[in-house]
Amino acid sequence: MGGIFGFVSREKISGKILYEGLRRLIYRGYDGAGYAFLDDKGKLIVRKKAGHIEKIWKDIGITEIMSDIAIAHTRYANRGWPKDENTHPLQDCHRRLAVVVDGIIKDYENIRNDLTREGHKFISTTDAEVLAHLLEDVTDKENKIDDVIGIGRIVDGVYAFAALFQGDRRIYVLTHGQPLVIGIGENGFYISSDIPSLHGFASEAVVLGDNMAGVIGRDGFTVYDIMTGGEVKQLIRKRVKYPAGLWDKAGYPHYMLKEIYEIPHALRQTINGLMDKYLRLAAMIIQGARNAYVIANGTSLHAGLVSLYYFADLAKIDLEVVSAAEFPYYGLEHVGTGTVIIAISQSGETSDVIRSIKLAKQRGAVIVGVTNMVGSRLTLESNVYLPISAGPEIAVPATKTFTSTIATLLVLAAYTGMHTGQIGQGDVRMIYSEIEELSKRLQHELPRIDRDVTKIVESREGWDNVYVSSSGINYPVALEAALKLKEAAILHSEGVQLGELRHGPMVLVRPGFPVILIKPYEEQALELYDKVVREIKSKKGSLLVVSMDEEGENAIRTVHTIKYLAPIANIIPLQLLAYRIGVKLGRPIDTPPGLAKAVTT
Ligand code: AGP
Repeated sequence: MGGIFGFVSREKISGKILYEGLRRLIYRGYDGAGYAFLDDKGKLIVRKKAGHIEKIWKDIGITEIMSDIAIAHTRYANRGWPKDENTHPLQDCHRRLAVVVDGIIKDYENIRNDLTREGHKFISTTDAEVLAHLLEDVTDKENKIDDVIGIGRIVDGVYAFAALFQGDRRIYVLTHGQPLVIGIGENGFYISSDIPSLHGFASEAVVLGDNMAGVIGRDGFTVYDIMTGGEVKQLIRKRVKYPAGLWDKAGYPHYMLKEIYEIPHALRQTINGLMDKYLRLAAMIIQGARNAYVIANGTSLHAGLVSLYYFADLAKIDLEVVSAAEFPYYGLEHVGTGTVIIAISQSGETSDVIRSIKLAKQRGAVIVGVTNMVGSRLTLESNVYLPISAGPEIAVPATKTFTSTIATLLVLAAYTGMHTGQIGQGDVRMIYSEIEELSKRLQHELPRIDRDVTKIVESREGWDNVYVSSSGINYPVALEAALKLKEAAILHSEGVQLGELRHGPMVLVRPGFPVILIKPYEEQALELYDKVVREIKSKKGSLLVVSMDEEGENAIRTVHTIKYLAPIANIIPLQLLAYRIGVKLGRPIDTPPGLAKAVTT
């Protein structure tokens, strides 16, 4: 993953805009940043450095330049260490062009060997540099777009790039499995890896589909289909509109904390953004399906696991929840006409998800997408999609998008239940009002929960090798809490089903061993819960309980709500716990080393 940003304008623009664009794309990678621009005489200037853009921006002077044309990049190092020479823009032998790339190039070693034999000199150890050398021969041509299209045809991989040539005041772009959008501004055009980053710069975004190439000048742009070479006239356009101040930390020390505090508002946004006609369509598709799968990764997978309980209860429909990483190897022979895939991805770009839905589509399945990123690959590949409308999430550890995805899936399950005749319209209305009620309570109670969590974190040591456990609808919450502890606090943690604790894992519990229990909502599970509590206490484990009713030095009380919303109420203290432990341990909370917000290659 990597983030691409740039502009070509009828007037000179400050490099501060490049800096802001890269900051907004930081979730895509933070191993290095750089930019290329043309000066008044058309000379190409490139500056770059390894490191997080917020640490190296002064060194590369990004805010000091003024130009009418520039491209920029924030890097996720998947091939080649985070070093200055591996940072983008990458250049050709004569330094007459600069290219910024998001993604991976397949078979790059062979291309590199061929080019080296032809005399090309490589500076970096990245795969992406081959694109700069492949473009080298076209530097002087007037019609470079044909060669750009040619590259799209011969270079395999999952990537998008933008190229800038000395003396040519146009930006060339190409998409081959990674996203890129063109923003339409008042005085020119922007390019970016996502739509939200264009907020305030462009009013509208043109979403480039897969296998497209484009040339963007100060007065307009043309997009081509790589396969046919013909111009693409029907382009998807989206409005770029987000609330002001979205990218500021607004006084919070980290985005993660800010985004947790945004959960009540995000939940309201979610239910306001869900449109009846798309919910009905998605529900109809699911209701009529022969079989249905939920596929997702990471946090989105945990949200998907929660939906299992919703669909079983409210619609009497059994879903299979499968990791998108496993789906291609799992029962594909059962996927065909009549299959529905509920594909969940916050970013809408996760490669496992995209690959799986493409496989399923080839077999005739229908795709219902659930995403936070309108205009993403997932929305382009889905037959119908539901936006979760949580607003941009910058911190790598997902928080508000988890809770908004859960709310979306709950409403979808309720609509499906209405279609299967299991519940009535009144029940759906009740679910909406419970979400609103929960949002209000959280708004009020979040600071108190945070204080309670902070006290516990301050009073305890030895946070490592943590078990998080629960059962029923809160079991996926235990898995998600363990993931948050890994990402934000960078400590080993494991989510374990409550009953399963007694089938082996309990052997590790010894004095001081941290075990977090989320009190199950289901009555039937409470006897087991009490038993487990006793067992942990007898082993002198360091017990912490999250529940709606217990308080004290070993418990965090969350807000009261209905069973379906318990996962939202319970995950918040645990997100805060992961955050506060991360702060205590001095972790880079928003940008855990070696992680990007989504795995797109
Ligand atoms: C969440 O905290 C993680 N960063 C990660 O597990 C993420 O949920 C996963 O990579 C899936 O991303 P997606 O929802 O954008 O597809």
